[in-house]
Amino acid sequence: MPDISKLRVNDLSDMARSRTRIAMVTAYDASSARLADRAGVDVILVGDSAAMTVLGHESTIPVTLDEMLMFTRAVTRVVQHAFVVADMPFGSYQPGEDEALRNAIRFVKEAGADAVKLEGAGRTLTRIGSILDAGIPVMGHVGLLPQSAALGEGYKARGRTAADARRILEEARALERAGCFALVLEAIPAAVAAHISDALKIPTIGIGAGPSCDGQVLVWHDLLGLTPGHVPRFVKPYADLKTTIAGALEAYVGDVRSGSFPAAEHTYAMPDAELARFESQLAENSRREEFRTPLREP
Ligand code: KIV
Repeated sequence: MPDISKLRVNDLSDMARSRTRIAMVTAYDASSARLADRAGVDVILVGDSAAMTVLGHESTIPVTLDEMLMFTRAVTRVVQHAFVVADMPFGSYQPGEDEALRNAIRFVKEAGADAVKLEGAGRTLTRIGSILDAGIPVMGHVGLLPQSAALGEGYKARGRTAADARRILEEARALERAGCFALVLEAIPAAVAAHISDALKIPTIGIGAGPSCDGQVLVWHDLLGLTPGHVPRFVKPYADLKTTIAGALEAYVGDVRSGSFPAAEHTYAMPDAELARFESQLAENSRREEFRTPLREP
């Protein structure tokens, strides 16, 4: 029997305190979210990775607020148990505190999200402050920040020098002080993630950050083997759905071409008497049509 009581921020803190690791995955549509929710995933992230995984962009930058709201609505419509976090896309919080707050409210009010996620510290801290003032829970994100990576910093792991590790730790502390309820640590050495997780009271959720975090997150397409091309080293694919789906689609094309689909069991029947009546009406109609058609001039 699946647990259909809705998870809250406090449940996630309790899990971390009792050393129950938090399982988080991205999802962007109703059918994926339903599967994740019923499988016992604790947190569903409607990630701006949708820009790449769903919309086919090269980076997370182009996805719009309206697109992210649509993905979030599809997810929250079917989720019963998991805590749903919506990623604020590039451009939806950078312009200032008021705009960040207005857009965060849309995720909660119009799309039913339980929380929002913003990337980075620095200027993001004031945006986070104004969103928290409105009572909206915020998840932070440090280490590799895909939005900044796409704009020039590149996708390499972060925190591999003492100075950079120190910087990330300070950012994590600042985000905790600001009031974030949890933090994503992306693509940093496991040892650095372990120190950050020790230093913070709030749960840390790692992606490419080793086993010491309070939870783990993977992108839906990476987890299920649906990613075309290169997959980061920190991904463990739990299925090879790309191959399974391609095989199913090729079999379907073959069956349509050969006429073996649809078979009798995929087809609707009707009572013989009704079919006979229908066919005799057609025959009668075509006799009348013939009668009405004027003879051509010779
Ligand atoms: O958008 C996303 O999928 C994310 C994860 C990488 C944490 O932010």
